Amino acid sequence: MSWLKNAWYVAGFQNELDDAKVVARTFLGVPVVMMRHSDGRITALEDMCPHRLMPLSAGKRVGDELECAYHGMRFGVTGICTLAPGQTHIPTQACVRNYPLVQRHGLLWIWMGKPELAAPELVPDIRWNDHPAWTPSRGYHHVEASFQLSVDNLMDLGHESWVHLRTIGQDDEEVIPNYPVKVTVKGEGLLHAHREMPNIDAPPFFAMLLEHQGKINRWQTAVGLAPSICMTDFGVYPVGSSPDGAYRSHVLHLLTPETEKTTHYFWSVARNKRLGDEALTQAVCKAIEQTFDEDAVVLKIQQSQMEKFGGPVPRVALKVDEAPIRARRMLEALVKKESEDPNFVYRPQLMIDDTTPELAMV
Ligand SMILES: [Fe+2]
Repeated sequence: MSWLKNAWYVAGFQNELDDAKVVARTFLGVPVVMMRHSDGRITALEDMCPHRLMPLSAGKRVGDELECAYHGMRFGVTGICTLAPGQTHIPTQACVRNYPLVQRHGLLWIWMGKPELAAPELVPDIRWNDHPAWTPSRGYHHVEASFQLSVDNLMDLGHESWVHLRTIGQDDEEVIPNYPVKVTVKGEGLLHAHREMPNIDAPPFFAMLLEHQGKINRWQTAVGLAPSICMTDFGVYPVGSSPDGAYRSHVLHLLTPETEKTTHYFWSVARNKRLGDEALTQAVCKAIEQTFDEDAVVLKIQQSQMEKFGGPVPRVALKVDEAPIRARRMLEALVKKESEDPNFVYRPQLMIDDTTPELAMV
């Protein structure tokens, strides 16, 4: 399937461009180099010299310009060549493409589609990564699988009981698919898959968060926002207490296709409790790294199997596939609209509100 081009994708964390750093990354198959200039502006240029295709990121930064490592051509903020050593005439074709890049919610966002459609107000509202009422634990995984396999994985949380037993999964009679999921289409590009697990043993990660070893109530809502952002909204609280006091997290999975077969996975686990507890921030980072490492292994194998034996997956749909399949259809419909009208843009909705969900298990 094709990518949705007219959309903002996460390109990195905002602080990655601090200290005059030059960051090279591939998005939607296009190599890009990003930097912050001395006046604070940020730019993303195609990471390829128009002369002999050297990556500009392999050269050096000279002030606010990038110098090619091969023949010393220099390129300024807008991508226009400012210097071609040995000649005064600079060919008009000697420029590199400039991609819209903005900062919001502590992140860098890039637009790989038609630049004239790149309105900053279309950046998805993922306020929880950078909000005083929430404390994030952040990280990055490079996933050796297509972004769609990652979205499938995040919209189907039933796999936790097998992939994540050491962290967030439950086993025996409490395997997660035993608890029904309610899938709700919330808008053109927004889907919720909500599940409640009353009176369960606390998996290790949640026992750590709650500092509680007894039975807990747990909810999880897998939120999918086209084209490739997911969020796991989860809440846990000891049985007998009120859900209004739940330890709640908005786990942001910010997926950006790198190539057809690889994905940038920026993540931020924002929590609503123990906000200033730095040791907890680090502990969550460590536990989530382990959890997402577990996913990355499965996704890499699945990608390889599809390449060897053919896709698409699932070959046989189970109940747990309802949300992933709906998320794929949602994105396919948007990609179709874009293919029929190159000026089509869709407006991402707020993924979830922060009120306590109405829980059937209460
Ligand atoms: Fe997982």
